[in-house]
Amino acid sequence: MASMKFLTPQASPANVATSLLMVGVFENEFHTGVSHAINTASAGQLAAQASVEGFTGKIGETSIHFPNNLVGAKRVLSFGLGAKSAFNLSSLREALIAAFRKAKSLKVTEVTVAPVELEGSQISAELYGATVAEYAGLIDYVINHHKTAAGGHQGETHLELVKIMPPPGKGTEVRRGAMMGRIIAQSVNNARDLVNTPASDCTPGHLAAAAVKLASRSRGAITVKLVKKAELKRLGLNAFLAVGQGSAHDPVLIELSYMPTNAAGSDVLALVGKSVTFDSGGLDLKGADGMRQMKGDMAGGATVLSAIGAIAALKIPVRVKAYMAATENMPDGKSYKPGDVLKTLAGLTVEVDNTDAEGRLTLADAIAYARQFGGATHIVDVATLTGAIRTATAHVGAGAFGNTAEFTSRVIAAAAFCDELLWEMPMWQALSKANESRIADLKNSGGAAFGAGSSTAAWFLRKFAGETPWVHLDIASVAFRDAEFGPDPAGATGWGTRTLISLAWEFSRKS
Ligand code: BES
Ligand code: MN
Ligand code: ZN
Repeated sequence: MASMKFLTPQASPANVATSLLMVGVFENEFHTGVSHAINTASAGQLAAQASVEGFTGKIGETSIHFPNNLVGAKRVLSFGLGAKSAFNLSSLREALIAAFRKAKSLKVTEVTVAPVELEGSQISAELYGATVAEYAGLIDYVINHHKTAAGGHQGETHLELVKIMPPPGKGTEVRRGAMMGRIIAQSVNNARDLVNTPASDCTPGHLAAAAVKLASRSRGAITVKLVKKAELKRLGLNAFLAVGQGSAHDPVLIELSYMPTNAAGSDVLALVGKSVTFDSGGLDLKGADGMRQMKGDMAGGATVLSAIGAIAALKIPVRVKAYMAATENMPDGKSYKPGDVLKTLAGLTVEVDNTDAEGRLTLADAIAYARQFGGATHIVDVATLTGAIRTATAHVGAGAFGNTAEFTSRVIAAAAFCDELLWEMPMWQALSKANESRIADLKNSGGAAFGAGSSTAAWFLRKFAGETPWVHLDIASVAFRDAEFGPDPAGATGWGTRTLISLAWEFSRKS
């Protein structure tokens, strides 16, 4: 991905020299537009081959054709765009997912995407270029595995060059878009790599180093501050510190700031990502099945880190801060215990009901810190917070919880814009009862019997967001996958990175 290049050649699609020409075909429209031109040049073979394969241009369909020197391409990949009358950004994305997956299976290093007719689709040439580049990069991702040649591994093929043929006269717009899409895909892939990294490597210190590296690569656009254990104690982030007590690795609060001088308005958007580098459950130890994927419990942190990197690289004029309260949750003689009472940074006391409900403890202090020291005017937290969210969403989407209807709808709209599926979940007042404690202001788990585990967790966080507009995204359903889904690979998905980038864009336009 790092080396993926984009060009926008102005040539005739039938003549362009390329190892794979990717041609979008509207449903039953082999005989109009770009596909028609290539079909004609190949003496009708393109449509003939498609018809043999039962390809009609539905979204998700692909067909491969060897044109035998009749056109400039060695191979032609027809991919369905769906009905022309229904063509929109979402159908383009779905079509590109299938097309780039097919291209990936052919192990090519260079492809050319023939022009797609955008008339009537409301997709600008810039957005088109961004979308092609973004999905090329997202699908090109290969997990950062540890397979070796000695073990029989053959090595990967990556797309190194993607030529995007622009609509007539729109080369500049498509190129500008492609540069944006490339940044977005890179940041999602960066999040995926961090989440896929084994927990013994991806420690709190590793996340801090990743943040420092991101800041140094931003050439001054992003500054980073690491708040270490002694300072955390002095300030009173005791809930966060308690979670890390049993770990051999010191906790660290990571703050990244992107404060462009041309930012519009006075908003400071704080992105808070759950950054538990391994969640064993602590003394309330998880079982084997529950623990297996817990290296991914810092996915929220990876998301906010990658998102702020992209927001700065895209030079979006909005003030953004990212927070990662990085720690590990381990059982040990020094571990925090059920029954402990913790005094949080916000001043509220919390009874520990369950050491496995650790995420909300780390986030409570991180959210309070963003408000007290970061000047946050709006907060989005992103967290693999509860297994319970899957009851509502399966592995398909994530849950949103907020304290103000207006801000919640803005975040949901940002997710919808990038086709990350997000649905608002109940925040009924009566659900907050689960967090009542006899001995403290709150307790950290309502217990399974109460039900609505994702909402009661959200209510716990809400107490720390106070009056600041806040949205909590529970991504435990989508951060890590057993199998490919949409643009996501198996393993870490980087889910939420694009939603946060879209939100920053929306902030820069609104304020
Ligand atoms: N990190 C887990 C949530 C999780 C579960 C993420 C599955 C990804 C996949 C979280 O810290 C946790 O353990 N939550 C408990 C809460 C309970 C103890 C109140 C849960 O979901 O069971
Ligand atoms: Mn847990
Ligand atoms: Zn957790």
